[in-house]
Amino acid sequence: MAPASRPAAPRPAAGAAKISTVSSKKNRKATRDKLWGGAFDKKTHAGAWAFGESLASDEPLTVYEIFACEAHVKMLAKQGIISSGESKRLLNALEKMWPDAYSGKLAMPEGAEDIHAAIETLLLETAGEAAWKLHTARSRNDLVATTTRMWLVGSCCNLIAQVQLFQEELLNLSEQHQGALMPGYTHQQPAQPITLGYYLLAYFWMLQRDGWRFERVQEMADLSPLGSAALAGTAFPIDRESTAAELGFKAPIPNALDAVSDRDFVGDALHACAMLMQHLSRLCNDIILWSTAEYGFVTLDDGYSTGSSIMPQKRNPDFAELIRGRTGRVIGHWVAYQTMMKGLPLGYNRDMQEDKPPLFDAMWLCEESLMICSGMLRTLKFNTERMREMAGAKFSTATSLADALAMKGMPFRKAHEVVGNLVKKCIKKGWTFEDLTPERLRKLVPEIPAELLKVLDLEETVRSRESFGGTGPRAMARQLRRARTLLRQPGFKRIV
Ligand code: ARG
Repeated sequence: MAPASRPAAPRPAAGAAKISTVSSKKNRKATRDKLWGGAFDKKTHAGAWAFGESLASDEPLTVYEIFACEAHVKMLAKQGIISSGESKRLLNALEKMWPDAYSGKLAMPEGAEDIHAAIETLLLETAGEAAWKLHTARSRNDLVATTTRMWLVGSCCNLIAQVQLFQEELLNLSEQHQGALMPGYTHQQPAQPITLGYYLLAYFWMLQRDGWRFERVQEMADLSPLGSAALAGTAFPIDRESTAAELGFKAPIPNALDAVSDRDFVGDALHACAMLMQHLSRLCNDIILWSTAEYGFVTLDDGYSTGSSIMPQKRNPDFAELIRGRTGRVIGHWVAYQTMMKGLPLGYNRDMQEDKPPLFDAMWLCEESLMICSGMLRTLKFNTERMREMAGAKFSTATSLADALAMKGMPFRKAHEVVGNLVKKCIKKGWTFEDLTPERLRKLVPEIPAELLKVLDLEETVRSRESFGGTGPRAMARQLRRARTLLRQPGFKRIV
């Protein structure tokens, strides 16, 4: 796992894609000609250059690029590959970049192809000739994989913290609403009564799995490609262990070719993002439904609803809808990544540059969605009266009666049929279970003993479901305790 000293991934300020640039003849020459221009007679077509540059979208990698440069320079000096004077000049220059880099204000040289070229060019201005040695025994192929991994490890820390905060919210609400009855649904039809606390706990466990997934993503990303060079390693006597340790990685990746080709960690992250968003989207969909006049289960807080420009009475669940909508975007990112990677020949391919914007976007969206969802849940009002009123709708306690008959010895299949018959007759008469008296029951379905009428009671039905993981109060209390214990433990070692 990354050490605590590694900074969490900083977020670029809004509109950071338009990063500031400095321009000078010296810079431009250094950038375009220096990195790979030796064998070329002509400059790249300006349009093609603009099409291929990734500097704008590389911005989140800036601080990690500086980290990686520092680690590489220290290692080169330690191994006697550059002199200690050169190392000092480079490290001083790199250190000076920190404040601006960290606040997202580092002015980039105009025309730099990507963040690797940009930092090297800036160093040329500030560290002079020593900067020409920076790229010894490394390549942009191992660099980009290194910095993307570092960004992801840091970002997972942020995201995991948000997952835990959201779980905390769910757990608090669940405790508050342990006894509040509501309909539980299958096929969007009232199926059996449950409690609101029980419903909310279901989301706690979904989030537990999400947290677990992001920890695994972090573990996958936590290996160092640095020093793999382009694909085959290098003839310089480098020390990959030391750069890996310096950057807080667990170990160097054993195979240099795999190290520059592997983007599994991006795919794992995007998959974890898609799953998390799918969970939030389902929750948001319920909130959207529950806030309708037809359901009336929740009233969204003013802070988390919007009005209509034409209909003055409207109160819309826009933020829940946006989370549901943006889930499509995140799933799209995952599909885009898989489609981009499939069929790539082993080794670095420029296609792989396309992995980062979706990765950044998906991770940020997850973080923001968790924050919004958490605030929305914390502030909305659950109309528990209305929920209770609907908890018994559509004969939702029928299973309890069938169970009671089966407990008295009637085979369950037969009990199912008998209760089904009762429901049919009630519908014909326009009755609910609440309208049933012992006499009415005897007349309608004589096989059902009148004393079983009590199991049709809503509270009774919920109280009776005490099996492990059930909605009954004791089973719920056990589940709440378990969830609390897990939340108090650091990390997501377990999913239950
Ligand atoms: N901008 C590139 C990327 O994101 C960096 C690596 C470039 N490597 C190369 N051989 N062109 O993938």
